[in-house]
Amino acid sequence: MYITESLHKEGGVTLRGWVQELRDLKKIKFIILRDKTGTIQAILKDEPEELSKAFASLGKEDYIEITGTLVNSMQAKLGKELVPNKIKIISKCEQPFPLDISGKIQNNPDTEIDWRFLQMRNPKVLKIFELQSEILRSMSSFLRKNGFTRINSSKLVGAATEGGTDYFELKYFDKKAYLAQSPQFYKEMALLSGLDRVFETGMVYRAEPHHTPRHICEYLSFDFEMVCDKLEHVLKMEEKMLKNLFISLNKNCSGCLSEYGITLEFPKKIPRVKFDAAKRIVEAMGVPTEEGDLTPAGEKALCEWAAKEKKSDFVFLTHFPYKHKVFYSKKAGKAALAFDLLYKGLEITSGGLREENYEKRKAQMIEKGLNPDGFDHLRFFKYGMPPHAGLGLGIERLTMQILGLKNVREATLTPRDPTRLTP
Ligand code: AMO
Repeated sequence: MYITESLHKEGGVTLRGWVQELRDLKKIKFIILRDKTGTIQAILKDEPEELSKAFASLGKEDYIEITGTLVNSMQAKLGKELVPNKIKIISKCEQPFPLDISGKIQNNPDTEIDWRFLQMRNPKVLKIFELQSEILRSMSSFLRKNGFTRINSSKLVGAATEGGTDYFELKYFDKKAYLAQSPQFYKEMALLSGLDRVFETGMVYRAEPHHTPRHICEYLSFDFEMVCDKLEHVLKMEEKMLKNLFISLNKNCSGCLSEYGITLEFPKKIPRVKFDAAKRIVEAMGVPTEEGDLTPAGEKALCEWAAKEKKSDFVFLTHFPYKHKVFYSKKAGKAALAFDLLYKGLEITSGGLREENYEKRKAQMIEKGLNPDGFDHLRFFKYGMPPHAGLGLGIERLTMQILGLKNVREATLTPRDPTRLTP
C-alpha cells in the first residue's frame, strides 16, 4: 500500500519504503518513511526491546517494511502518524550515500547523472520524470483520438536520415549501418499504406559534438505525419495537441508544477511569424541573426517579443529560406513551407509540408548535393504518395522548458553526450 493511500484507512497497515530520516531522542524515536507518494512519520515510545533493536539497526535510505497502526496526530503534517509493531529491513543501503537527495546541498551536475536513479529519490527530481510520462500519455492519447495510428520504425538504418555529418555509423555484419537520426522517411512512407495519420515515439541519435545545455546525442523524438496539403493544418494540429497537454498537466501534475513554481497558461493563439519578418523583429531588438537562421539568442529575442506583444510563450516560425532547409521540404518560391516551434526561448519542434512528388523530390536531393541512390525510401514515392506534412518534437526539451530547467540533461533519464555512455 502507498503512504498517501494508507491515510484513508482505519486500523492496521503495512507500508514499505525508504528511511528518509531517523531521530533518536531516547524516550521517543522517529522514522520518516518515504515512497513515491510521500512521507509518513513512525513514532516509537515505550516500545518493546525487539523494536528498539530493529530501530538501532536502521540506516538512512534502507528499504524497510513497517507494520503498525495509524493514529491521529495534531503535530504530524499529514494529520496521522504510524505506531509500529514490527519493523523489517528488506534491503540495506550502503553508507555513505553517493549524493545529497534532501535538496539542501547542491550536487555536482555530473554526480547527479552518475547516480540518476538514486538522485530520483529526491521527490522533486522524481516529479520531472512523472511529468514527462504524463506528457507522453496526454499527447499520444490526443493523437489517437484524432485518428492517428502509432507506428514503431527501425532505428538501425542503411542511410543517414537527415543528411549532414551528425550520424553514428556502426558495423552491421559485413556492411555499414547507421543509427536513425529521425523516423522521418518511415513516417512519410507509412502514409502510402492507407494510414493517413501516424505518430511515433522513439529514441533517435545525433552525433553532435556540441556540449550545450540543449543538445544530447540520444533523445526521445515525438513525431507525427498526416495527409494534408496546407502548412496551417499541421500547425493547428500541434496547437490543439499542446493546448490539450496543458489541460492534462494542470489537472494531473499540479503538485509538480507548483513545486517548480510554474503556472501553465496556454495562449489564445500561437503567433505565426514568417522567417523574414522574424529576422526584422529580432534585428530591431539589437540581436544579430545568421543567414537562414535566427541563432539561439535570436530565438530568445523572438520569444520575448511574442510574450510581450502576443501574450504567448510559444511562437511558430515559418517560411525559412529553402536554401538552408532539408531537401524534403516543400518549396514555395525561395521559401520552404517548414516551421519551428519556439517555446520560452528554445526550439522544441521542427516540421513542415513535404515534397511528395517523386521527380521533384529527387531533383531537390540532387540540388542539395545528395545522391538519390543512397536513399532507399525514394522508390516508394513513385506509387501514389498523398500530400502530407508533419513534425518532430524533442520530449526532453519540452519537459525542460515546461519546468524551467537549465539543462536538457536534467530531463533525460540517462543522457548521452560526447563524454558520457553511462549509466
Ligand atoms: P530536427 O532535427 O529539427 O527535425 O529535430 C526535431 C526536434 O528534435 C529536438 N532535437 C534535439 N533534442 C535534444 N538534443 C538534440 N541533439 C536534438 N536535436 C533535435 C528539438 C527539435 O526541434 N525530421 C525532422 C522533423 C520533421 O520535420 O518532422 C527533424 O528531425 O526539439
